[in-house]
Amino acid sequence: MLVLPEPTRLFWRRVIGANFLVANSQAASRLAERAVDARFDAALRLEMLRVLRAWLNPPATDPFLGRLNPVLPGSKPSRGEVARLLRPRIGRLLADANASVRGEAAHLASDYRLDEAAEQLSAMVAQPDENSHVRVAALEALAQIGSAKSGKLAAALKAALTSRDDRLRSVARRLQARAAPENAVSMLGAALERGSLVEQRSALATLAEWQTEEARRLLATWLERLLDDRVPAALKLDVLEAARANKSAAIDRLLRQYERRISSANDPLAAFRVCLQGGDAKRGRDIFLRHAQVRCVRCHRVGGYGGDVGPPIDGVGRKRSREYLLESLVAPSRRISEGYETLVVELTDGRTLTGIVKRRDTNGLTLIDGTGRTTRVDHEQIVRQRAGPSAMPDDVSKHLSMFQLRDLVAYLASLR
Ligand code: HEC
Repeated sequence: MLVLPEPTRLFWRRVIGANFLVANSQAASRLAERAVDARFDAALRLEMLRVLRAWLNPPATDPFLGRLNPVLPGSKPSRGEVARLLRPRIGRLLADANASVRGEAAHLASDYRLDEAAEQLSAMVAQPDENSHVRVAALEALAQIGSAKSGKLAAALKAALTSRDDRLRSVARRLQARAAPENAVSMLGAALERGSLVEQRSALATLAEWQTEEARRLLATWLERLLDDRVPAALKLDVLEAARANKSAAIDRLLRQYERRISSANDPLAAFRVCLQGGDAKRGRDIFLRHAQVRCVRCHRVGGYGGDVGPPIDGVGRKRSREYLLESLVAPSRRISEGYETLVVELTDGRTLTGIVKRRDTNGLTLIDGTGRTTRVDHEQIVRQRAGPSAMPDDVSKHLSMFQLRDLVAYLASLR
């Protein structure tokens, strides 16, 4: 394989990007041919495959240049045309040495309904050494390709349901539920009873969308268990949200009971305690760094990056309990970290300033507000001063789902 030096790689990315924009038959055939050409490394071939997929469902912004509405109207190659180009090559792509390429090839087989890939996809699902994501993509592709090859799908489902990979088992169960709805709820019930956390969550997510009385009855029994405190901590939120999404009269009654208990607890954290355990630290990190509304990094530094209105959060999971961390998110003013108390000062000129005391000396003090702006105030300017609420926003929980809060707690707790 020819590993291309960086400038060449950049050049080729521009070429792939240009083909994406041109979006005609010639572009499609150039990309399909080069995607199986071993002289290009896996990262570039992966981009080519992504373009072939993106035409079916063009993204709102250009993945190469970030422009809006990138694909020129008019001459987009048809689904049939791209499928014709892929058919003779899909076998080689699914057998590629690179797992990401194999996974993307499975998505292509799915999107373009390449039924000649069924046999190979089925073998990939059954192969215990295959990468877990690739196996899942292959199984989903088989289900998408459809009924003509249902023998292959049935075999793959059987292999998946008995595999050692709990993610694969979960996806198989969801597909199996659709294929044989009459047994779905009992199968999901068994997974809830005896499966791993991954399988339990996946079963609950399927039940949340399963609009039958039988599914709602099963959800109601799990909600009762939650009220009796017999659900593992990491699964509580999943039970609650599944029940909220698929209500019956019985579920409604139990939910009201749950809510009464929360509001009588005289504990502002009560409604959020289901977020204490079971989050995904990686997703939480993403929220911390990138979520547009809450923008934690604007005020908190982590690993040397971020603002300094709030305390740096490196090692916060070592210093603070999960409860403390949750409280910081949903009720920040209950406990304010030392050195970050907010002061409200009234000045002789009638202005009122609010901020954290950044520096204090014999002549006065320097305040920093929530946007990071500092103001110097002399002692003789101050008429009155008092403690204010935390400078940490108190509406974080309004912008985030309960699942996102759970992920944030997991992330903060993981900073050791
Ligand atoms: C406008 C600035 C600002 C933003 C945005 C902000 N915080 Fe804060 N945060 C603060 C300040 C100031 C404190 C210290 C005062 C306090 O303890 O309430 C604080 C305290 C905390 C603490 C307690 C740290 C400790 O050691 O006591 C945690 C944890 C925390 N924030 C997490 C977050 C997360 C997660 C987000 C994003 C969802 C976020 N913050 C967004 C300003 C901010």
